[in-house]
Amino acid sequence: MIYSRILLIVGGGIAAYKACELVRLIRKAGMGVRCVVTEGGREFVTPMTLAALSENRVFTSLFDLTDETEMGHIQLSREVDLVVVCPATADLLAKMAAGIADDLATTLLLATDKPVLAVPAMNVRMWEHAATRRNVERLRGDGVVVMEPDEGEMACGEFGAGRLPEPEAILAEIHRHLPSTHSEPVEGRAEGPSLAKQVSATRQFARPLQSLPGKHIIVTAGPTYEPIDPVRYLANRSSGRQGFAIAEALAALGARVTLVAGPVSLHTPPGVTRVDVETAREMAEAVDAALPADAAILVAAVADWRAEAAPAKIKKGDRGPPALALVENPDILASLAASPQRPALLVGFAAETCDVIAHARAKLARKGCDWIVANDVSGDVMGGDANTVHLVSAEGVESWEEQPKIVVARKLADRIARALMARAARP
Ligand SMILES: Cc1cc2nc3c(=O)[nH]c(=O)nc-3n(C[C@H](O)[C@H](O)[C@H](O)COP(=O)(O)O)c2cc1C
Repeated sequence: MIYSRILLIVGGGIAAYKACELVRLIRKAGMGVRCVVTEGGREFVTPMTLAALSENRVFTSLFDLTDETEMGHIQLSREVDLVVVCPATADLLAKMAAGIADDLATTLLLATDKPVLAVPAMNVRMWEHAATRRNVERLRGDGVVVMEPDEGEMACGEFGAGRLPEPEAILAEIHRHLPSTHSEPVEGRAEGPSLAKQVSATRQFARPLQSLPGKHIIVTAGPTYEPIDPVRYLANRSSGRQGFAIAEALAALGARVTLVAGPVSLHTPPGVTRVDVETAREMAEAVDAALPADAAILVAAVADWRAEAAPAKIKKGDRGPPALALVENPDILASLAASPQRPALLVGFAAETCDVIAHARAKLARKGCDWIVANDVSGDVMGGDANTVHLVSAEGVESWEEQPKIVVARKLADRIARALMARAARP
């Protein structure tokens, strides 16, 4: 399991209560979180609440880090994978931009060598103030990731930009900015072992960062568009987000990833080679051209049928709607399973609206792949942030609870890495 550690700095804003929900979500996503609350933050949430939710000691004061030899402020700022400031008040942003270090939170922010994600929340006038604009720009220039706040009605009754984004959106952003440092979980309790002991336990269990170097993995993502005539097409609602997240997670583990993408408006993940296609036939050709591969993860929602496309725009006439003659598209998963160049690990996706697991089992047997990742798309999964999936293989069915798509992607990438390592170790 990929295990990342977050240092969460809670500032003194009305949205601090949402930091509690964020802590819960971070823990639910399988990550460790250590909280620091500013003096202002403590006016809005108690360290006790954060300690209970994070299952970790909460730090509040620079000079309360009594034994600097056991647990210094420098160590606290470095023994994590990402520092998150949430809510990042106008005051905290200003201090960060100016390099002020007059309390534990701001000292840690100045001392850290880890990526920093700031999640601002404040009144719209404060957010739009020239001073805040300047500070945000300077912080971004310094490499701090500053999320855009949401727009809407504020606690103070005004309307505009400045609301804290929803905790689920913050969690997705956390996943986007986590470096791929992986280590096994260590137990952390409010009254548990000292941080120094936890840290050394983490080091002992540290695994190499890159578990897929030298492996080539093909990922398909997004929908396909099947033309009806030069201006119309048949399509589906796939957003491509799950497939792109998987490509990103595999690349973060060191794999050489070829991402064959249908028409989507998503940025190419770092380190991924992208091939854009439109139709199912183009996708099949692009997958073939990308072979050989150690694994193929076919996430795209490929249209089962295409229309016999008319060479010119079909005109609306007196004869009523035209009859669309549908032709079956190539079955990329089944062809790859039967190919002499079959990747060692072949994973298909099954989007179902009913009997999800039964359909997935049938698909696994019919297609000849190794795993089917099945999901219920009767809700707003297509285009949404979260996904509930079932991993179906010859060994059985494993159901994962609902989680952000990037978490599903990281868990799956981890599984793929383990499966490929196990196959490589076979005599
Ligand atoms: C009821 C109340 C709500 C506040 N909400 C916010 C807020 O949402 N965002 C903000 O930037 N400041 C807010 N402030 C002002 C901050 O609390 C103040 O600037 C404080 O010094 C920030 O502390 P910090 O640096 O520990 O975050 C609020 C103040 C009060 C009294």
